[in-house]
Amino acid sequence: MIRILTAIKPTGQLTLGNYIGMLKNLKEMQHKKCKCFIFIANLHALTKPIEKKELQKNSIDIATFYLAIGLDLKKNILFLQSDVSAHSELSVILQNYFYIGELKRMTQFKNEFKKNKNNYLGLFLYPVLMVADILLYDANIVPVGEDQIQHIELTRNLVNRFNNLYKKNVFVMPNYIVNKTGKRIMNLLDPKQKMSKSNPNGVIFLKDKPNIIYKKIMSAVTDSEKKIKYDIINKPGISNLLQIYASLKGIDIKKCEEYFKNYCYLDFKREVANVVVSEISTLQKKYREISKSNIINKVLKSGAKKANEIASKKIKKIKEIIGLKI
Ligand code: TYM
Repeated sequence: MIRILTAIKPTGQLTLGNYIGMLKNLKEMQHKKCKCFIFIANLHALTKPIEKKELQKNSIDIATFYLAIGLDLKKNILFLQSDVSAHSELSVILQNYFYIGELKRMTQFKNEFKKNKNNYLGLFLYPVLMVADILLYDANIVPVGEDQIQHIELTRNLVNRFNNLYKKNVFVMPNYIVNKTGKRIMNLLDPKQKMSKSNPNGVIFLKDKPNIIYKKIMSAVTDSEKKIKYDIINKPGISNLLQIYASLKGIDIKKCEEYFKNYCYLDFKREVANVVVSEISTLQKKYREISKSNIINKVLKSGAKKANEIASKKIKKIKEIIGLKI
């Protein structure tokens, strides 16, 4: 059976980017013949300073949103990364199979380092922990947004390196999957930047009230032309709104361009805003129902038990192969 694995780090409130780039894909994929390993990457959240209460609250929130998309817990596993110690253990082992140079080339690290030179070591080692996350469960497919692709490629390199070194297929080769029309949702006020949890301006949060979501879309930056056309370089704002519309409606961008060809920007924005509001309001309704039911702790506890059973077998095997067991 195909294994799907993915995660979100609880560093802030979830955004429309997280939803379109990953959650929506996951929601659709879980109905196929596969088993999903979904977790809250709270160890990854420690790479930058974060308050205890905020970390806990964000983690519960993400778990609730995972359930709100309709994750079937009979066949899938939802857990907290820190509840399965094999993630940390494998990460420490794998640090010795990477070169400093290749980790220095990671775009996310380079960008963070440019902004702030005074970073924690954890930020540098972040990709290694992510590789461990994926390999621990023999994941075949990893649904992610575009910004994470480089980490999956790093994982693929490690699989080749490790399996060749020990002349055994210890690790399974993972593939990433991205949302065709929405792999990189951009900031509404600065459409050359990614929509991200860490930069609140121009971002739609999944918990924003519907009228706020509507207003944010209506104030999205566009351009001085009148043409609704997909052109990321010259029309990043319009292209972003087209991406959002296309991915929520499940149609391709070309069809959207055709549909909107006689629209003015104002009417176009209204239609995009209505689609976003409708999809997110449905999600929020489920989110509220789940929040009231107080089931998150129980779900995460049972998920961690199942994840630990699988991960501990894998780590035992890895230790045997390397020579860490005598
Ligand atoms: P995180 O928490 O930054 O984002 C979670 C998922 O949402 C996607 N995403 C986006 N997609 C499209 N447009 C956007 N604007 C946008 N913003 C975020 C991300 O690509 C991601 O898929 N390192 C990961 C968490 C992680 C992980 C893993 C993922 C830890 N271990 C193992 C996969 C497998 C992260 O920080 O995602």
